[in-house]
Amino acid sequence: MTSDPHRIIPGGAHTYSKGDDQFPSNAPRFLERGEGAHVWDDHDRRFLDWTMGLRTMTLGYGAQAVNAAAIAQIARGANFGRPSRLEMDAAGDLLDLIPAGDMVKFAKNGSSATTAAVKLARAHTGRDLVALCSDHPFFSYDDWAIAVTRCDNGIPRAVKDLTLTFRYNDLAGVERLFEAHPGGIAALIMEAATTDEPRDGFLHGVEALCRAHGAVFILDEMITGFRWHLNGAQTLFGVTPDISTFGKGIANGFSVAAMVGKRAIMELGGIEHDQKRTFLLSTTHGAENHALAAMRAALRIYRDEPVVAHLWRIGGLLIDGLNQAAGEAGVGMAFRAGGFPCSPVVTCMDRDGLVSAPFRTLWLQEMVRRGVLANYFAPSYAHTATEVEITVAAARESLRVYARALQDGIDGFLEGPPVKPVFRPYN
Ligand SMILES: Cc1ncc(COP(=O)(O)O)c(C=O)c1O
Repeated sequence: MTSDPHRIIPGGAHTYSKGDDQFPSNAPRFLERGEGAHVWDDHDRRFLDWTMGLRTMTLGYGAQAVNAAAIAQIARGANFGRPSRLEMDAAGDLLDLIPAGDMVKFAKNGSSATTAAVKLARAHTGRDLVALCSDHPFFSYDDWAIAVTRCDNGIPRAVKDLTLTFRYNDLAGVERLFEAHPGGIAALIMEAATTDEPRDGFLHGVEALCRAHGAVFILDEMITGFRWHLNGAQTLFGVTPDISTFGKGIANGFSVAAMVGKRAIMELGGIEHDQKRTFLLSTTHGAENHALAAMRAALRIYRDEPVVAHLWRIGGLLIDGLNQAAGEAGVGMAFRAGGFPCSPVVTCMDRDGLVSAPFRTLWLQEMVRRGVLANYFAPSYAHTATEVEITVAAARESLRVYARALQDGIDGFLEGPPVKPVFRPYN
């Protein structure tokens, strides 16, 4: 049996962001277990983790109450041939938290939820075009979204022609899009925010333009949900999407995604109306019982404990600590931590101030060398000020190496190839 995953799994992983091309060459190859904010690799090496299962582990690895709820439900039945009561209770829990929703449909992956939202929008409006925010990295692995990336191989021209793009904080651009395609745009999909604050009423402006032009306003809350705000980034920013989509941290690592939307639109997927039928999400595992039980337990904790406030506090400490470490190492012009505290981002630049994959790789490599996995930062309830201190201490040392590489040139410092963008036309 081969030990090279690339021999038997295309890409060597089941999510591109887990891939070897996204990590420095000294990163652990296989992760075997996690506990709290830590993971162990197949050589039993322990790492302080900020990636947290692709941002799913909001409560930390092995959250007791969530796992107990899932295990109890497994004993009662993972799936049935008729809906479980749990499906309704879980839908009710979610609707209690998300203000802009009347109905819920569950799925296993976020991509299924966003794709279903786009399909519903098309059915509701009778239009074909969908506009997505090109500053937001990912909405779905389905063709309608990947069509406008640099990795569009295998997607028919006819499908590509149906996806339009606009920029974040460019309200005039959104307006121009609607004017260029009168009565043609079914939906506009975006995240409420990623790294930048919405400026000059951008989100409200987009919502108003969607209303004025009869398009469905879809907010993808896969990352922002239960992180930016308990009741969604829609609540934080005070906007009302027609449909919003959730996943990631909704069930602390268990596979649950959801589409939450207004009845008039969601009902099209139902079996009680007399309009033309819309074949909405229908999958064998869509309402897997133990995953929904895990979700209910996770939501209970988000509701009853100051989880979201904790994420913001820890991320804020981290941003400040990293920027201070950069200043101390004299690399403040080439390394910056920022973004929303609940979802910090670092920008690695070369000595000309240009965003640099080799310098990003060096940063990641040096952090891994010091036992910290920091490909991106997803603060969790399990990260405390101690984990921030450990990270900042590792950053202090890593950024001293970074400073030397800025001065001497990076070539002698990298142990392997630089990381690459996921969306590229060739490997
Ligand atoms: C904003 C956003 N939307 C949708 C998705 C797709 O979710 P999934 O990977 O569960 O299909 C992701 C995944 O990274 C995401 O970050």
